[in-house]
Amino acid sequence: MKNTIIPRHMAIILDGNGRWAKEKGLSRSKGHVAGFETLKKIVPYIFNRGVSILSIFAFSTENFKRSEAEVSFLMNLFVNKFRKENKFFVDSNIKVIFSGRIASPLPDNVQETLRELERLTSHNTGGILNVCLNYGGHSEIVDAVKKIVQGGLRVEDIDEEVFEAYLYQRLPAIDFLIRTSGEKRVSNFMLWQLAYAEFYFPEIYFPDFNEEQVDIALEVYAKRNRRFGGIQDETESD
Ligand code: FPP
Repeated sequence: MKNTIIPRHMAIILDGNGRWAKEKGLSRSKGHVAGFETLKKIVPYIFNRGVSILSIFAFSTENFKRSEAEVSFLMNLFVNKFRKENKFFVDSNIKVIFSGRIASPLPDNVQETLRELERLTSHNTGGILNVCLNYGGHSEIVDAVKKIVQGGLRVEDIDEEVFEAYLYQRLPAIDFLIRTSGEKRVSNFMLWQLAYAEFYFPEIYFPDFNEEQVDIALEVYAKRNRRFGGIQDETESD
């Protein structure tokens, strides 16, 4: 697989933890734990394959509508995994950043854990893991507009490049989006950044999305023909 085209910025909607667990007769919580174990395997692998930035959807603003027990389990999981396993991210040379409303209703200990992991990994150079947590694509755009208005910008100062600087992170556009579990929706994930992304929907629950699945996905991407609204080459123009 040498000389293949690798996406610079890849994104994954981690879907299907609950269904994976249910099919095995396990609790949904076990599915989320298995999802994290999968992440630990594939994130370093994805960076080793040459991807520079990986954005993942860990918890949406809408996920607060789930049962209190599941929300509270996930909040504890974030603290447990991002605090107690911070050595994994530090040793893997992964720079972890968080996008979303890192504020209430996220519990204080979650907010502190996320900030601490950002601080601990801020000088790492082996790939950027952008974890979207309490994140919504509409909220990100609304929050950017609020910052622009608060900053007193004039209408004539604003263009797409300026607007992008007010999003949660300064990251290049997403090249390739994967949503596992067979669902074919964007679900309010990184709407601005996905404008020209290629989409891929493997029929596999996230906990089963292993290194081999990553390779298959990267092959799918390499075969896509990206046009950005134009035409691919001169020979196709007549
Ligand atoms: C989607 O599966 C998954 C989530 C809402 C949570 C994502 C969290 C993880 C993969 C755990 C990762 C842990 C950390 C620390 C980042 P679902 O519950 O929507 O599955 P379903 O659609 O089958 O019910």
